[in-house]
Amino acid sequence: MNILITGGAGFIGSHLAELHLNNGDSVFAVDDLSTGRRSNIEELLDSGDFRFEAADLLDWDGLEEAVAEADRIYHLAAVVGMFRVLDEPVEVMRVNVGGTEVLLEEVVRSGDTPEILIASSSSVYGKTHGVVLDEEVELVFTPEAGGLTTYALSKLANELQAIAYHREHGLGISIARLFNTVGPRQAGTYGYVLPRFVSQAVKGEPLTVFGDGTQTRSFCDVRDTAKALELLAGNGNAIGKPINVGNTREIPIIDLARLVIERSGSSSDIEFIPYGEAYGESFRTIGQRRPVITRLVEATGFQPKWSLEQTIDDLLERQSAGVSSKGEWV
Ligand SMILES: NC(=O)c1ccc[n+]([C@@H]2O[C@H](COP(=O)([O-])OP(=O)(O)OC[C@H]3O[C@@H](n4cnc5c(N)ncnc54)[C@H](O)[C@@H]3O)[C@@H](O)[C@H]2O)c1
Repeated sequence: MNILITGGAGFIGSHLAELHLNNGDSVFAVDDLSTGRRSNIEELLDSGDFRFEAADLLDWDGLEEAVAEADRIYHLAAVVGMFRVLDEPVEVMRVNVGGTEVLLEEVVRSGDTPEILIASSSSVYGKTHGVVLDEEVELVFTPEAGGLTTYALSKLANELQAIAYHREHGLGISIARLFNTVGPRQAGTYGYVLPRFVSQAVKGEPLTVFGDGTQTRSFCDVRDTAKALELLAGNGNAIGKPINVGNTREIPIIDLARLVIERSGSSSDIEFIPYGEAYGESFRTIGQRRPVITRLVEATGFQPKWSLEQTIDDLLERQSAGVSSKGEWV
């Protein structure tokens, strides 16, 4: 099978590429390396079945050929990460909404019918909380959510683009609403919490918890996420509707910090940083994020294999083994 991955040098994209190469497929990854890194795919480049092109999806002269070759397309390229999202709202709209349109228009123009998966995000739930987050729940957005709303609505736009192109042009598009994903190759630079905690614990620095730490999140290992995406793409039960992808275990961020300290045996303390200091005064956090994955399980039989403890231990082991020298933990 020929697989095209936009954002293929990114965190999730590189794991997906690895999974498909292990399946014996050919993988073509395109990425502008804005948050993705060549080091993420360095080992894959040795495989004769892996091709990579550094390009902006919106301005890529290889798109027509890549789409024509593809049996399956994973569209992951996006402006992501809390810091980038807050700092670059125009780029968020250009890449996230514009890039998706460019890609889907090219598929229509090609006349082909590849299997397509589009990565959405749990951020589409906006300020909805205190209720179970299944795909039927009403979405709540208010302007004080600040810059995060731009990202959330760009991802909601992606879902609507997928549904529109499915209905009007018959494209077989699955929509994965991804909740927090963690694991090797996730960079701490853009505001992701677990790589920051692991790096701080290993260095013996205080673990910086934003806010009071009572906000909860659910973390899914990236290798489970990649498997779920593989199961959703081209799956007749998953076309044209959003499907939550994540792990249902919920943990307050303060407990995540304690867990990292415990697993690492670090003498680090915990330091609380007000949200205003971390992200600017207008920032408001989301209190809770836990997916209901019934739709995913019914469509695919998916069950996560990695516990949070296993993921943390794996990250600590890699960090201690000096993976940081390759830039993984910048
Ligand atoms: N990691 C998570 O917890 C999470 C949660 C929800 C949704 N998602 C979604 O999953 C997808 C992958 O995210 P990730 O966590 O792997 O982040 P990532 O930053 O590692 O991956 C995104 C990739 O897209 C690339 N990219 C950005 N703009 C591009 C452009 N114009 N042209 C080509 N490539 C471009 C980046 O360089 C990067 O490699 C994104 O669509 C994101 O919205 C991720």
